Amino acid sequence: MTPLRFGDDSAFAAEHRRLMREAVRRSAPLERPAEPVTSGQRPEAIGLARENWRARMAHEHRSAAVFAELVRFVMAAGAPPSFHSVMARMALDELLHAELCGEVVAALGGAPEVEQDTSLIVPLPLHADCTPLVAAARNVLFACCLSETISMALLAAELERTNAPYIVDVVRQLASDEVTHARFGWEFLAWAAPRMEPHERDQVDSYLPRALAAIEREMLAAMPMNRRVDPAVLREAEQLGLSASKPARELLSLTLTTVIVPRLDDLGFAATPAWERRG
Ligand SMILES: [Fe+2]
Ligand SMILES: [Fe+2]
Repeated sequence: MTPLRFGDDSAFAAEHRRLMREAVRRSAPLERPAEPVTSGQRPEAIGLARENWRARMAHEHRSAAVFAELVRFVMAAGAPPSFHSVMARMALDELLHAELCGEVVAALGGAPEVEQDTSLIVPLPLHADCTPLVAAARNVLFACCLSETISMALLAAELERTNAPYIVDVVRQLASDEVTHARFGWEFLAWAAPRMEPHERDQVDSYLPRALAAIEREMLAAMPMNRRVDPAVLREAEQLGLSASKPARELLSLTLTTVIVPRLDDLGFAATPAWERRG
């Protein structure tokens, strides 16, 4: 475990701040308000929301490593340079997201620090038995078409329940970036699919049952049921951006079956049979 702490005073602190606020261009910088962001929620609800945002900090930070690594796969696949720069921007987006999540933790009265489990920062699979096009397609499919499309749906649902204005702005920023990240996946697959030989398509198809099973398992593991929490406390925590597990699990299933699988089918991949035999 390594502490992940924002607001460090390293030699690059000023450059880091400039990048986070300017190079990744935003319509309006999100500054944490000086006044309290809560409005009468119970301490248990505030604590619950704070822990949720703290866990997100670490998760967003790990996503940056995935996208940074994906730049190389996308380049090796021969994708146009615009794909390279958008993917590199996506890695920066995730670093910004981690920082924004830390700002929310601070706004909820906590320190913007979390223990980052670095054992979870693992290299992307090389898919060494596949062509570079398929290796990139498999990893983009998992990281963008699956993970980011699901994140986008979850954040859109959170927006409806969050009512603290500063946190609403942060969730809106995260959601709008995740739309780009998910879109990247679908645009990349739309570019890659017609360039694949039949045996390369088969290699994507043979990966789908594993990928669909893995994303479902990972997402469900990240959504433990909040059975012991008073429902009134849970509702208050949702106002501060907590993603409650029951609606999140329902939305996960809906997004997979009504958005992701049909869209993969439309691109000519065998997603419906893969979903049925994912195990
Ligand atoms: Fe993110
Ligand atoms: Fe993302």
